[in-house]
Amino acid sequence: MADKDEEMVVTPWEVRGKIDYDRLIELFGTQRIDQRLRERIYKAAGEKHFLLERGLFFSHRDLDWLLDEYAKGHPFFIYTGRGPSGQVHIGHLIPWMFTKWLKDRFKTRLYFQLTNDEKFFFEECMTIEEVRHYTYENSLDLLALGFEPETTFLIDDIKHIDLLYELGVQVAKKVTFSTAKAVYGFENSMNIGGIWYPALQAVPAFLHSWIVGKNVPCLIPCAIDQDPHWRVTRDVADKLGYYKPASIQNKFVPGLGEGGKMSSSDPMSAIFTTDKPKLARKKVMNAFTGGRATAEEQRRLGANPDVCSVFKYYSFIFMPDDRELADIDQKCRSGAILCGECKQILAPRMVEFLERHQAAREEMKDRVDEFSAARLRDEVRR
Ligand code: TYM
Repeated sequence: MADKDEEMVVTPWEVRGKIDYDRLIELFGTQRIDQRLRERIYKAAGEKHFLLERGLFFSHRDLDWLLDEYAKGHPFFIYTGRGPSGQVHIGHLIPWMFTKWLKDRFKTRLYFQLTNDEKFFFEECMTIEEVRHYTYENSLDLLALGFEPETTFLIDDIKHIDLLYELGVQVAKKVTFSTAKAVYGFENSMNIGGIWYPALQAVPAFLHSWIVGKNVPCLIPCAIDQDPHWRVTRDVADKLGYYKPASIQNKFVPGLGEGGKMSSSDPMSAIFTTDKPKLARKKVMNAFTGGRATAEEQRRLGANPDVCSVFKYYSFIFMPDDRELADIDQKCRSGAILCGECKQILAPRMVEFLERHQAAREEMKDRVDEFSAARLRDEVRR
């Protein structure tokens, strides 16, 4: 059972404890996305998005500036990524689905970094073969969401280091070891690869500007755990003469157990995109909810969707319709629906989603190279 009073820790490599998102905004020094900013995004995008409307994308850096530039006719590009340490879970898809929406609405390019070097440095037991395998596997998950090859560039850190290194060394020279220790909590026992790595995560924020030879704004959609990287990247941007990247940040999809932790050592705590539908159904049916001890009690007193993992899966992905979500919320609180019945609604949606996603993954199996950032080599103007 998770310890609810466990201290909150949110770094790019560890998320634990009860997450207090207001506190994270304070700690990280980001800005809250308020109704005014939401309206501004909708106006520029031409439509609303439920992840913004529900406050699930809740924090940002410099979005107003980015939208000002956009309004002046200066388009931006999008940068996001994945550390390929295993199969992708439903949570990882959230910033990527939102990226797809942003990319379509604002007609941007996407640079997607696969940080196989990061996972090799940070995961004690991972071999080069394993990170290579998951680089390919995780690429399929991104591409299954429908990205177009003409405007989507998959950057494989190890394979495409020639594209990244010139910027990487410039970034690395501007970040001291004491800054890295203060921001990332690095310790002396770490391998030196891990200490260098943040320089490489900064690079794609400047890559497009470097390629085209002029400054182009950058927007990074991701969960808030990646924000320490953007703090360092933004500091360095000034020093190198590039724009500071803007960022739009989501909350975490919780795990299926009590306390919401997704643990790679407990495969039942998360739904992976490669799970067989039967297994996914079983995970849903075993999920932690905000229900009462007995059906009778729940009918009488109602349950609590605020702590329920099933309800979170509805909010983040499986119930985009606000009226339907409000209806299930009300039925849950009033005791009109029991947790077993509620899970019976989620399970077929999950299964259908996975079947569709897995078929789309299958279709991309021979097409990953079409998206390779190697094509950028021809565009570099130096
Ligand atoms: P990684 O592979 O840990 O995570 C990939 C993306 O998923 C987000 N994320 C989540 N979102 C919702 N719910 C969750 N439970 C959840 N867990 C993770 C992460 O914030 C991330 O956006 N170092 C990075 C790879 C990377 C990257 C980037 C990510 C390189 N450049 C630029 C974002 C933007 C990593 O290991 O992400």
